[in-house]
Amino acid sequence: MASNFGFEQIEDSQICVVMVGLPARGKSLIAQKIVRYLKWLSVNAKSFNVGSYRRADTPQPTADFFDTGNAEGERLRRAAAEAAVNDMLRWFEREGGHVGILDATNSTRTRRAWIEERCKAKGYDVMFVESKCDDEELIMNNILEVKTTSPDYVGQDPEVAARDFRNRIRNYEKVYETIDEPHLTYVKLINVSSQVIINQVSNYLQTRIIYFTMNLHITPRSIWLSRHGESEFNVLGKLGGDANLSPRGMAYAEALPKLVKDSVGDKDITLWTSTMKRTIQTAKHLTYPKKQWKALDELDAGVCDGLTYEEIEKKYPEDFRARDDDKYNYRYQGGESYRDVVIRLEPIIMEMERGSDIMVVTHQAILRCIYAYFMNVPQDQSPWMEIPLHTVIKLTPRAYGTQEERFKANIPAVSTFRAKYTSANMGGEAAVVDAERAQPPVAGAQANGVITINDDVEAAPQKVGAVSVVESLGLNG
Ligand code: ATP
Ligand code: F6P
Repeated sequence: MASNFGFEQIEDSQICVVMVGLPARGKSLIAQKIVRYLKWLSVNAKSFNVGSYRRADTPQPTADFFDTGNAEGERLRRAAAEAAVNDMLRWFEREGGHVGILDATNSTRTRRAWIEERCKAKGYDVMFVESKCDDEELIMNNILEVKTTSPDYVGQDPEVAARDFRNRIRNYEKVYETIDEPHLTYVKLINVSSQVIINQVSNYLQTRIIYFTMNLHITPRSIWLSRHGESEFNVLGKLGGDANLSPRGMAYAEALPKLVKDSVGDKDITLWTSTMKRTIQTAKHLTYPKKQWKALDELDAGVCDGLTYEEIEKKYPEDFRARDDDKYNYRYQGGESYRDVVIRLEPIIMEMERGSDIMVVTHQAILRCIYAYFMNVPQDQSPWMEIPLHTVIKLTPRAYGTQEERFKANIPAVSTFRAKYTSANMGGEAAVVDAERAQPPVAGAQANGVITINDDVEAAPQKVGAVSVVESLGLNG
């Protein structure tokens, strides 16, 4: 699909991003984050993890498999790399992929030259992203955090697994050549981007990918999201506007400091609001440093601003239907689409990636887009997610995904959720006008403190009882 990400020229460019680095340097994590970010921006991106190809033949190798003196190991590893590259090239060709990521160690000049040759032969650009890290403590933490639970070590004693993984790294170290080929396009991220070296960057998409990777960090932190308290317009079922909070909305604003404190503790957080009265009033009693962002203002409903859904259905029936047919892409006359909102939120997401603990008080459509980024929700689903009023959502990035908790204030509010192909009564009671086609909300309201973890694979959260985990696939290369 064509991208609106301010660079139409990406339609012509197909880039293979080649990860480089010793094991346990965060390559898979960086690769998955690039994919999530680009897909959120409608760039067709996919990661090809050589480890999962290798596992087809060798599910549980020991460290000596990775010794270059092991001829059979070398042959199987080479075959896995070939299979991944072949699949990636096919994906570029058949599915019009824009950014294919080859996630493997790619740690020798010979291997990089071979990948470059294969890609260039087909006319694809090649760019290398190397993660270098010599912080032994961090590497040991990485091993314990993600490697001992990798499919490579299923059923094994974590201590034995950690020791074996260290030996695996030693075998790679014997032949590892950091990237310094002068003709290659590359970014070298040293010790989690405390130093960054960039070489031979030639186009805008590459610049965006590099800028994104430079902003990634792994310092633990959380992000708190809340809609504004119930507004006078919400009570009337009207869209948009710049209304004040209703009395129940004001009660939420008053309850917010305690609700937030219970979850944030004594940490210093930064508070972001939109420039609209209802978010500023909601944040009024919170004493954290505040910043207003125009980019966080609600999706602009254009000629429909100030109308109820029922009024829109009567006045603009074709628009009403067209929006439900493709809510992500539908642009209100004189207003915005969800796609437009994502584009204006891109700098916000970049700041969130760079930043530490942040609370964002904003609006329904905006929160859907931000939530979709962190939880990897596809575009056809994100505009239909239920993000209830008077609820704080806490998102905590983890190694391969994002953990979610929801905290409800015990203050009633209307529901502003409208299901697909329905019109809504005032006060948010959905009236089904076409029961056959009506669809339920994507993410339902959850009980207080319920944890959901969504990893960076292509799936929306799946609930399994109170705690849900989507298995990370093919990540532990
Ligand atoms: P392998 O070669 O075994 O596949 P990998 O390099 O792909 O390893 P990951 O599986 O992505 O490594 O490791 C994830 C771990 O790396 C996480 O614990 C994460 O916090 C950490 N990490 C993320 N980014 C970096 C970085 N730039 N430098 C070092 N560690 C990082
Ligand atoms: O109803 C509250 C509101 O924030 C409106 O101002 C906005 O137009 C709407 O939600 C966005 O939700 P949807 O995209 O589902 O219409």
